[in-house]
Amino acid sequence: MKIPYLDLGKVNDQLQPEIEQAALRAIRSGQYLYSDEIHSFEQQWAATNGAAYCVSTANGLDALTAAIHCLKTLCDWPDNSEVIVSAHTFIASYEAITRCNLKPVPCDVNPEDYNIDCSKITPLINNRTVAIMPVHIYGRPCDMPAIKDIADSHKLRIIADSCQLHTTHCSLSSLADATAFSFYPAKNMGAFGDAGCLVTNNPQLADLARIFCNYGATVKYHHEIKGVNSRMDSVQAAILSVKLSHLNEQDTMRQSQALRYNQGIKNPLIALPYSGSMDAKKSCWHVYPVFCDKRQQLQEWLASHGVGTIIHYPIPPHKQKAYTELNALTLPITEQICATELSLPLNPALTAEEQDYIIEVLNSFTV
Ligand SMILES: Cc1ncc(COP(=O)(O)O)c(C=O)c1O
Repeated sequence: MKIPYLDLGKVNDQLQPEIEQAALRAIRSGQYLYSDEIHSFEQQWAATNGAAYCVSTANGLDALTAAIHCLKTLCDWPDNSEVIVSAHTFIASYEAITRCNLKPVPCDVNPEDYNIDCSKITPLINNRTVAIMPVHIYGRPCDMPAIKDIADSHKLRIIADSCQLHTTHCSLSSLADATAFSFYPAKNMGAFGDAGCLVTNNPQLADLARIFCNYGATVKYHHEIKGVNSRMDSVQAAILSVKLSHLNEQDTMRQSQALRYNQGIKNPLIALPYSGSMDAKKSCWHVYPVFCDKRQQLQEWLASHGVGTIIHYPIPPHKQKAYTELNALTLPITEQICATELSLPLNPALTAEEQDYIIEVLNSFTV
C-alpha cells in the first residue's frame, strides 16, 4: 500500500463540487480583493472564534506580525522589548517577533501536551517583557486561563499563535489580545494557496491591523502609517467559507482517527501522544505525533512499507542558524521532542483500511 503523509488533492476532492462552485462565484463576481466574499468570511470566522473582529491577511506569518506590530504601536513598546514564546513551534512564531524589532525569549514546553510550560513563564519575566506568545502546537490548546492569569498579574499582552488550531468548539480568543491563524493548504482548514487572519476583541487593534495590512492607508493614496501589503483574496475567502461549513464533521473524523491510532498502536518502542490519553476532543489533531528514540529507523521502516511521515520539527527555532543569538540555550523538553517526534498520516481522506495497515506496520517495527 502507498500512503503519503498528506494527499491534498484527495482531501479537497471530497468537497470539490462545493469548492468549485464557490471559487467560480468569486471569479465571476469581479471583486477580487476587499470583497463581500472576504467580509463574509471574516464575519463567520470572528463568530466561530467568539471574537468581535477578524482581519484577513495573506498568510499566518503576516497575521502574527500585524498583531504584534499593532500592539507594539498601541502600547508604545520600545524596540528590543521581549516576547516570551513557546519554544516548540514553527519558525514563523519567532520571525513575527523579530520582524517587529522585538526579542523572542523561548520558554520550554511541558512533556504532557508539548505546549508552553506555564510554570516556566514567570522566571523569564523582567522589566523588558511586554507579551507572551503561546502556540497551540499540533492543534492542542494551551492552558490559556493560566497564561492569562500570569499576563494579567504582570500587565503583559498575549498574542496567541493558533496557526495549527482551527475548531468550532473551543473559543479561546477572548483570553488573548489577538489570535493569529494560518490557512496554509495543509492546515485543517486549508486554502488553495496562502491565506491567514487575526481575530481580536480590541477595536483599536482591529482598525490599526486593517490599515497596516493595506499599505498604512484608510483612504486610497493617503498613507497614515508605514504599512505592508497583506490581503486575503476573494477566491480563498469563498473556498474557506466552504471549508468552515465542514470543519465540525472533519474535526470529528480526525478525532476518531486519533482514537483508532491510540487503540491500535501497541509497540513499546513507540510512545503515543498525550500518553495515549483519549482526551481526543481537546485537540483538533492537526498533527498526530508519536515519539520514538529510534526515530530515523522508524521513519525508514514506514517509508519502506509505503507510509509517508513528517517530523514536526527536526530543529527547534532556538537551535537554528537564523537565531545564533539563542543557540547556547538548552531547553530540554523541546529538544527531546524535536529529537524523537514523528507525525503519522491523519486527515479526512485517510481510510480505516489505510490506518489499520499503518498500525500493522508500526506494530511490527523492531530494532
Ligand atoms: C505554529 C505556526 N505558526 C505560524 C505559521 C505561519 O503560517 P503561514 O505559513 O501561513 O505564514 C505556521 C504555519 O505553517 C505554524 O504552523
